[in-house]
Amino acid sequence: MFKSYRCEKLNKTLHFLPDKIKFCCSCAEGPGVVITDFSNIDKEEIIKEKKRIQKLLKRGIIPSVCKGCVDYKEIPLKERVLNLFSPQKDDFLVKHIIVDHFKQCDCKCIYCSQEHIYQTKKQQYEVLPLVKQLYASKMIDSYGLKAEFQGGSISLLKEFDALMEEFYNHGCIDFVVLMNAIKYMPILEKIGCNEKSHIGISLDCGCRETFQKIKGLDLFDETIENIKKLRANSNVHIELKYIIIQGINDNIEELEKFLFVARNIGGIEPISLEIDYRNTILSQFEFKIPAHYYEMFDFAEQFCKKHNILFCKTPHTSNLLKNGIYKPIDCSDKSQ
Ligand SMILES: C[S@@+](CC[C@H](N)C(=O)[O-])C[C@H]1O[C@@H](n2cnc3c(N)ncnc32)[C@H](O)[C@@H]1O
Ligand code: SF4
Ligand code: SF4
Repeated sequence: MFKSYRCEKLNKTLHFLPDKIKFCCSCAEGPGVVITDFSNIDKEEIIKEKKRIQKLLKRGIIPSVCKGCVDYKEIPLKERVLNLFSPQKDDFLVKHIIVDHFKQCDCKCIYCSQEHIYQTKKQQYEVLPLVKQLYASKMIDSYGLKAEFQGGSISLLKEFDALMEEFYNHGCIDFVVLMNAIKYMPILEKIGCNEKSHIGISLDCGCRETFQKIKGLDLFDETIENIKKLRANSNVHIELKYIIIQGINDNIEELEKFLFVARNIGGIEPISLEIDYRNTILSQFEFKIPAHYYEMFDFAEQFCKKHNILFCKTPHTSNLLKNGIYKPIDCSDKSQ
C-alpha cells in the first residue's frame, strides 16, 4: 500500500524571514508556500496552495518544494482508514508566527548562526502591517496563537513594542522570545506565566571574561542585572542556556560559575545545555561528542537536581548524546 503524509507546520506556521514569508516551518530546506511581495497577503491563493501541497503529500507524493524537509509525517494506517469514513477537514488558521525577518544585532556571539546565513541582509520590510492584515482577514487563531521572536536583537527591532501590543490586544498569551538581554525591555514584563511561554537567553558563561570572549562585549554585569530585573518584575518563565563552545567554555569551572549565577538570580526555569551548532547541524562533518561534554551534562543535571531547578535538553541534544556522534544528514533518500 502506498504511503500517505501530512505536514502540520504547513497548516499552522507562518515564518517571517528577511527575504521571504514562508507559510510553513522555520528550518526546513523546502520552502512550502512562499511569498516575496511584502505588501499583501492573498488569503485565497495561500489556502489554495496549502491544499495543493497537502493533497500531494496525502497521495504519498513529495512536492518539489518539500524535498529535503524532515517535517512531513506519515499518516498511520489506522487514521487513514478512519479518515475514509469521516474525513477530517484541514484547519488553515495560523497558530504559530515566527518573527525572524530582522538580523540586526547589538551582540557579536562567536557562534552566531544568523551571521552565517544572512550576513549581508538588511531588514527589508515591516511585519506589523502584515500581522494587522492577517488579523483583519481572520487568518490567525487569535487565542490559540504562539508568537515567537528569533532574529537578531529585538532591542533593535523598531516595531517590537507595537507588535507585542498587537498580539497582546488580540488575546495572545503564548510567547517565545529569544534574546541576549543586553538591553532591558519593559514590554516583556507583560508576558504572563503559562506552560508554553518563555524568554530564552543564551548566557553561555558565568563571568565577565568569558562573556567578553563569547559575545565580544564587556556587558556581563549589565546583562545579569537585566535578567534579575526581568525576574523581579514579571512572571514569565526565563530559560538560561549554556551553549558549549569548544576551547572557550567547555569546562566544568565555567559551567559551575554559570550555574551559580543562575541559582543566585533565582526563579530560572529551565536551565539548558546545548552543543554548539557549528559542530552539529551547521557542520558538514562528523563530530564525536567528547567525553568531557558528557561530564558537563551530568554535572549540570546533578547541580539542578540538588538546587531544585528544572534542567532540560532538547530532543536533538538528547539524541546526539545517545548516539555519541553527529553525522550530517543525507536527505536525498527521503523524497520520492
Ligand atoms: C539564532 S538565535 C536568535 C535569537 C537571538 N538573537 C538570540 O541569540 O537568542 C536563536 C537561538 O539559537 C541559538 N544559537 C545560535 N547560534 C547557535 C549555535 N551555533 N549553537 C547553538 N545554539 C545557537 C541562540 O542561542 C538562540 O537561543
Ligand atoms: S514538509 Fe513542506 S510544507 Fe511542511 S514544513 Fe517541510 S517544506 Fe514546509
Ligand atoms: S544575540 Fe543572537 S543574533 Fe545576536 S549575535 Fe548572538 S546569537 Fe547572533
